[in-house]
Amino acid sequence: MNEMQELVTSAFAQRLGTTPSLIIRAPGRVNIIGEHTDYNDGFVLPMAIDRAVWLALRPRTDQQVILYALDMDDEGVFWLDGLEPGQGWLEYVKGVAHILQEEGFSLQGWEGVMAGDVPIGAGLSSSAGLELAAARAFAAVSDVPWNPKQMARFSQRAENEWVGMNCGIMDQMISAMGAAGHALLIDCRSLETENVPLPPGTNVIILDTATRRGLVDSAYNERRQQCEAAAAFFGVPALRDVSVQTFNADANGLDDLTLQRARHVITENNRTLQAAAAMRAGDALTLGQLMDASHVSMRDDFEISSPELDHMVDIAQLQPGCYGARMTGGGFAGCAVALVESKEAAAFAENVSAQYAAVTGLDPQVYICTPTDGAEVIS
Ligand code: GLA
Repeated sequence: MNEMQELVTSAFAQRLGTTPSLIIRAPGRVNIIGEHTDYNDGFVLPMAIDRAVWLALRPRTDQQVILYALDMDDEGVFWLDGLEPGQGWLEYVKGVAHILQEEGFSLQGWEGVMAGDVPIGAGLSSSAGLELAAARAFAAVSDVPWNPKQMARFSQRAENEWVGMNCGIMDQMISAMGAAGHALLIDCRSLETENVPLPPGTNVIILDTATRRGLVDSAYNERRQQCEAAAAFFGVPALRDVSVQTFNADANGLDDLTLQRARHVITENNRTLQAAAAMRAGDALTLGQLMDASHVSMRDDFEISSPELDHMVDIAQLQPGCYGARMTGGGFAGCAVALVESKEAAAFAENVSAQYAAVTGLDPQVYICTPTDGAEVIS
């Protein structure tokens, strides 16, 4: 049994004096390439990671939800028929319940414990993991059929409408639909997906800078608005509809900042499609080059990197066996991601940690990750 599964199972037994009837796991994610493209109806290429939110639970006969969060040492309680907005981690669970009920599903209560090993606020989608874990829990105890795309949409709406974070669809889609051994190419307009394998003999390695984002919602929303303004300039519904050729021919009417933002999104969409093609061909070299180019674009055009992320990426790119590296996720802090030759992975992890610590005085975390399945009921 997985360590986390053991942890929630024994915590459940301790609190409720019996074994749980259901164990649920919903993973965090790392995005290999395709950043800030999801809300532009574009393409993303994330993978679900072997770090997840775990729930151990049993159904209740009433409409109450009681959830003890081990990591926070905090118990959350609410009634499904009297949902009121509040503060904190429980809002993700309540938000999912709210949307499911708004969609006409009649939900049953449940009780249990939760624990997770996705670092919070690191850009690895601990919140999408929690939303999808909650969605799977409600679906399982309430006999709601599990449709992963639909549940990803509902979870995104929970985050947009209940929690108030205006995120795109990437994080919820990958937490719902990840596939072991693969990254997922997602068309964020049609929600069509394709599993693409990691190039043979490579590892995806997450490099946590040990910096956390502060007030980034406003920067995220500002980027969204700039992208919308650029799409309006080109007379299209979203930047997804602007090709690199059209951009090169017509962008000179844009102000400098909007032009930069649009250039990132339009070229990033291209890179993401090229990256998927490289992965299908098992071409680690090309994939790595695209990741490097993506970082430059985010640093210089979209301006969502940070000095620590830049140091981490620079250090990673110089190591033997590193095909490419870039910051990953919403930006401003958190994690970078690197594609590394498997036989160099252990040395890479050690050297990057030591060199980053020497340059910044910070204590980074390095995770050599395995791509996993999306949200699942284990038992
Ligand atoms: C955050 C959001 C996603 C996506 C990324 C940037 O993770 O939740 O929807 O926009 O930023 O690619």
